[in-house]
Amino acid sequence: MTPDFPPLKNDLLLRAARGEVTERAPVWVMRQAGRYLPEFRKVRESHEFFEVCRSPELASEVTLQPIERYTGLLDASIIFSDILVIPQAMGMEVQMNPGPYFPHPLDTPTDVEKLASVVDVDKELNYVFQAITRTRKCLGGEVPLIGFCGAPWTLFGYMIEGGGSKTYQKAKTWIFKYPEESKALLAKIADVCVDFLVGQVKAGAQLLQVFDSTAGELSPHDFSIFSFPTLKYISTNVRRRLVEENLPATPMTLFAKGANHALGLLAEHSGYDVLGLDWCIDPVEARRIVGKKVALQGNMDPNVLYGGRDAIESAVQRMCQGFQAGEGGWIANLGHGITPGVDPEDLKWFFECVHKYSSRS
Ligand code: CP3
Repeated sequence: MTPDFPPLKNDLLLRAARGEVTERAPVWVMRQAGRYLPEFRKVRESHEFFEVCRSPELASEVTLQPIERYTGLLDASIIFSDILVIPQAMGMEVQMNPGPYFPHPLDTPTDVEKLASVVDVDKELNYVFQAITRTRKCLGGEVPLIGFCGAPWTLFGYMIEGGGSKTYQKAKTWIFKYPEESKALLAKIADVCVDFLVGQVKAGAQLLQVFDSTAGELSPHDFSIFSFPTLKYISTNVRRRLVEENLPATPMTLFAKGANHALGLLAEHSGYDVLGLDWCIDPVEARRIVGKKVALQGNMDPNVLYGGRDAIESAVQRMCQGFQAGEGGWIANLGHGITPGVDPEDLKWFFECVHKYSSRS
């Protein structure tokens, strides 16, 4: 049984995700609850990063911060958490100091034995489910709540590299030297992703986004072997489980950063409703490639937010023209997460410009 929630007052995001041309583009930004907000930094002064993730009260509080600050301008909230809660649930230690750090990464395939053989997602990630239920109630139906997880390839990279990496040499060593063991580990992660996403819908998430933030590290061939099958597995199995468990049909977004070479494949065969775009592809070109198959999300370069009001306004105007020239749904966003140095007032201006230039009336 899903809990009872207040009725949704703003369904722009969900309509655009289903492919509808909306009266104005819904807008949110990746990492909208983050260090660029003084109210977020304040919470972080007295609480460690994963402490915020693990406390439903704190996670809910910071999720709501941008919604409260930008009243009437934001069309979605995204639950405050991190993609690295999955490796933690699988038995790995992860610290945030200030970037992600795994003291004991997976060096060779024998290290996989150190991971939990069975992951009880309802138990290990229950704190995320509680945070989602609580936040959805607190939102009072103002905007929908997005749940998310990391994609298997992106998580595999962190688990093997032990953190971020410039070269992905260790993760690449795995896929080229131990391809079968790599596929087995990717499949194991994918199963946890499925349970986690289904659990988030059960808890109250109204749209699901899968972050394959390091998809662009793979050649088109290797993406088709080591990432695409797991992404498709996730969409297929999440949808099957939602039907079987009598849960709401929930739109799914895939953000495969740097994998614009795969847009045609993803639109045709990945099973997602929305494809998130980074800023390295022109909106008109992206729409030409995907046709009417999917909705699109994105894609202003987040660094434009450092360029001042005029730069932001003209970039938003161009983005709106590009995405609205074609048919199909569009969700305005940045092409990647907002960074800590942005002035919150400049982000407000971004939202105002999206409202102004995407309005069809
Ligand atoms: O979008 C949101 O507002 C929801 C929260 C969210 C966070 N991380 C909070 C966070 C989401 C959706 C993520 C996803 C995430 N985490 C991704 C995929 C998206 C992307 O950016 O590509 C990745 C790769 C991670 C892993 C991760 N977490 C990194 C690389 C870092 C350090 C880099 C950074 O921006 O500081 C984090 C930390 C993190 N996750 C922060 C936040 C707000 C900042 C840490 C802090 O509060 O000290």
